[in-house]
Amino acid sequence: VNQQSPVISKRAGAVAPFRVMRVLEGARELESQGTRVIHMEIGEPDFPTPDPILKAGQRALAEGRTHYTPARGLADLRGAIADYYRKRYRLDIDSDRVLITPGASGALQLLLAGLLDPGDGVLLADPGYPCNRNLVQMLGGIPVSVPVGPETGYQITAALLDAVWRPGIRLVMVASPSNPTGTVLGASELRALYLAVRERGASLLVDEIYQGLLFEGEDHTALACGQDGVFVVNSFSKFFGMTGWRLGWIVAPSDCIDVLDRLAQNLYLAAPTPSQYAALWAFRPETLAILEQRRKEFERRRDFLLPALTRIGFSIPTKPAGAFYLYAQCSEITDDSERLASQLLETSAVAVTPGTDFGDHQPLGHLRFAYTTSIENLNEGVVRIERYLG
Ligand SMILES: Cc1ncc(COP(=O)(O)O)c(C=O)c1O
Repeated sequence: VNQQSPVISKRAGAVAPFRVMRVLEGARELESQGTRVIHMEIGEPDFPTPDPILKAGQRALAEGRTHYTPARGLADLRGAIADYYRKRYRLDIDSDRVLITPGASGALQLLLAGLLDPGDGVLLADPGYPCNRNLVQMLGGIPVSVPVGPETGYQITAALLDAVWRPGIRLVMVASPSNPTGTVLGASELRALYLAVRERGASLLVDEIYQGLLFEGEDHTALACGQDGVFVVNSFSKFFGMTGWRLGWIVAPSDCIDVLDRLAQNLYLAAPTPSQYAALWAFRPETLAILEQRRKEFERRRDFLLPALTRIGFSIPTKPAGAFYLYAQCSEITDDSERLASQLLETSAVAVTPGTDFGDHQPLGHLRFAYTTSIENLNEGVVRIERYLG
């Protein structure tokens, strides 16, 4: 906890930094000295934004689409998202339930602001996406970490709820596929979790930002669980390859939309306008065909990297079905993954993220590998790590 200055609030001073940013900074510095760094730390696709989306964005700018949209987002885009759920997931979602946000980040901020009162408890998987814990805390909520491991596929399950439930919990947050583990809650597991959460009078927030990046099992959405008590966050960042456009969405129960709309008006007015026009092309068949090629490439990379890491001494007990991460146990190699990560960078120019970014549950025994780079680069990374480990 770094309380830097008397003018900074205690709340802000307590926010933990992202270690991966420090890794990235170190990697960039090496690169500026001419070293070829293998990046396995970066949590965004290496592919550019698909051309149809890019061109639509350029047209939007040329046509002067640079004014605010309504806080909920463009009606056409909300309609396109509802249509996508209809076609891909055979679900009828009223487009009035869709809100466009500045990334999943904006969606998470909006939802947590809309759902939490000070003192409310929020169940979160550990390891998990670290911003959630910080956001809950900033809003005066109480993050309640649930240590998860291979037994439950690194996910909070209905069975786990029994063991960890305590009074005051208002919300359960999960991500499927998850960051940092890439593991998925199957449709029936998700439904069981939803029912267990509802039985206890709480709500379920499902972060589906890696939806579409799925290599096994049936692609599904938590929206199939029911109309009430489930909030879905999604984004154009990962599957659609639009990280820098800052665009995501929420699907919420109908009776919550007005409040979320008001909050959006106050928090950020609206998501970026040119990005919204560009995203109208995200669901076109020609774009989806490009994205399917990329999905297959991510699958090939996973199928290369997982056995390669296992061969050199890491252990990945649950084969992840999605996203682009492997969360590898390194306890056979070291008891300090943070030190290993910095040594790999310094000695071998391989950048990976230590488990310490993702929580308090055995973080020093884990590294996250992102396969957001070519198989050739992944191979070079593995060769370098093997050489380092001797
Ligand atoms: C699980 C999860 N949720 C949300 C985000 C935020 O993404 P964005 O704001 O780019 O949509 C990320 C980014 O890495 C993530 O991994």
